[in-house]
Amino acid sequence: MNEFVDRILISEEEIDKITTRIAAEIDRDYKNSEKRLVLVCILKGSIVFMGDLMKKITLPVEIDCMKVSSYGRGTESSGTVHIHLDLLRPDLEDCNLLIIEDIIDSGITLSYLVKYLENKGAHNVKTCTLLDKPSRRKVEFVPDYCGTVIPDEFVIGYGLDYDERFRALPYVGILKPEVYSSLGE
Ligand code: PRP
Repeated sequence: MNEFVDRILISEEEIDKITTRIAAEIDRDYKNSEKRLVLVCILKGSIVFMGDLMKKITLPVEIDCMKVSSYGRGTESSGTVHIHLDLLRPDLEDCNLLIIEDIIDSGITLSYLVKYLENKGAHNVKTCTLLDKPSRRKVEFVPDYCGTVIPDEFVIGYGLDYDERFRALPYVGILKPEVYSSLGE
């Protein structure tokens, strides 16, 4: 285990079961749609989850990416969502967009993005997250697909970072508090 990890919250085996379950749910829910199914990866944290999930979906699937931010340097959302990389495809009215997130915290990012993409003309917009922290909500938001609900702990790994580190860990772990408390977070 990584020396900065206090304990593993979700193991590789558990993540594998989660991605298998969600892929089957997606296959079931979209199999009768004639629209194009587009997974929208919200960079950067969702890269690992999206990569594993898309391999398990058996329907024809397309991928796209967006980069957004609502956080400054701290751990509290600023409340304002900035779009740094947008969807450029011209055929949104032909698309079922499924936004893929690593984690929902305040809910501000996804509630904004769903409205934004609907206003841009997408046929349908749904959301999928690996992790959900409902205890941190500032706006009401319920994802369409959820890997697992977690407590309010600082989680890293499987795409999630602390100061851009630890994204490549193959599991979701809890960061040792002394790592971020020593830096005044
Ligand atoms: C995280 C996460 C979501 C957002 C969730 O991204 O990937 O996009 O925060 O928070 P919210 O529910 O409070 O809006 P982050 O800004 O850490 O960027 P990253 O994915 O590049 O690490």
